[in-house]
Amino acid sequence: GDPGLVERARAARAALGDRAFVLGHHYQRDEVIAFADVTGDSFKLAREAAARPDAEFVVFCGVHFMAESADILTSDAQAVVLPDLAAGCSMADMATLDQVEEAWDVLADAGVAASTVPVTYMNSSAAIKAFTGRHGGTVCTSSNAETALRWAFDQVGGLQGTGKVLFMPDQHLGRNTAVRALGLPLEACVVLDPHRPGGGVTPEALRAARMILWRGHCSVHGRFTAKNVADHRAADPAVTVLVHPECRHEVVTAADMVGSTEYIIRALDAAAPGSSWAVGTELNLVRRLAAAHPDLTVRYLDDTVCFCSTMNRIDLPHLVWTLESLVAGRTVNRIVVDPEVAHWARVALDRMLALPG
Ligand code: 13P
Ligand code: SF4
Repeated sequence: GDPGLVERARAARAALGDRAFVLGHHYQRDEVIAFADVTGDSFKLAREAAARPDAEFVVFCGVHFMAESADILTSDAQAVVLPDLAAGCSMADMATLDQVEEAWDVLADAGVAASTVPVTYMNSSAAIKAFTGRHGGTVCTSSNAETALRWAFDQVGGLQGTGKVLFMPDQHLGRNTAVRALGLPLEACVVLDPHRPGGGVTPEALRAARMILWRGHCSVHGRFTAKNVADHRAADPAVTVLVHPECRHEVVTAADMVGSTEYIIRALDAAAPGSSWAVGTELNLVRRLAAAHPDLTVRYLDDTVCFCSTMNRIDLPHLVWTLESLVAGRTVNRIVVDPEVAHWARVALDRMLALPG
């Protein structure tokens, strides 16, 4: 980055001292990660935010839904700040509260709402988390999706019964976890499309289903294909293919290892020297992993470059502006969740935080 900006960021960070705590998601740019007090996946960062009651400012270098969750998990006296308010998440935007309420009515009309538990991925708005909390459900992340789903099925008679989970908004994480980790058949999953009348699914299909998947996806992970995997294997038969569970089912099925960003980092930390890897997740992280492991061959799964454009909105100029504003006594870009929404979203988040593991 620009040396002048790096110097300004250092000076502002030093001036804030313990008053501020800076969190950085693994998909953030290197120039931002350099100033993070802690880095993590969305689950680790939620825990870290909750564990910092003394920080006046929690500067969240990540995307909007993560900052909302941090606001919900911190005290009212603490300000959670997102360096660029335009850092959203296209997946989270695929489920609005109106759509989810309408979908719940569709389930009620089919007679299945009472035997369905909502589970929402962390990548969702606080309003969706609150809906989930009000309806007896939990939040999950890509590192605890299996545990969360087992818990949810237990609320409605267990995996062997006929109870259902409504999984929002990432159909891929929902399907991959249900089929790979829980052993449910692929046919037990139906997709509910918020843009079609009745969700585009018949009441009979809803009654027969176990996993009702919201039609949402990640624009970054959704790009990887089974052909990408096959091409890497053809070029290098010894390659280990490691992907995030937001990838499509055929990609996850073709891969060797599947897990959250923390899992991906640990897998490469434990890799045999000289081994080769093709990694299907966001590019900032893959590049950082390649640089951190010169003894390994680490390739990006796709051949076209793909950053998460909203994660990348947080850059050094935005971070400098944020930190300097805080030093000057201006709490800019504060994320504040409505108290009623925050209450119910916290119910769902606390259920997640109480899950074993
Ligand atoms: P994790 O941080 O849970 O690995 O999720 C990745 C992601 O896409 C965050 O937006
Ligand atoms: Fe959202 Fe995908 Fe970006 Fe994660 S990588 S913030 S899910 S768009």
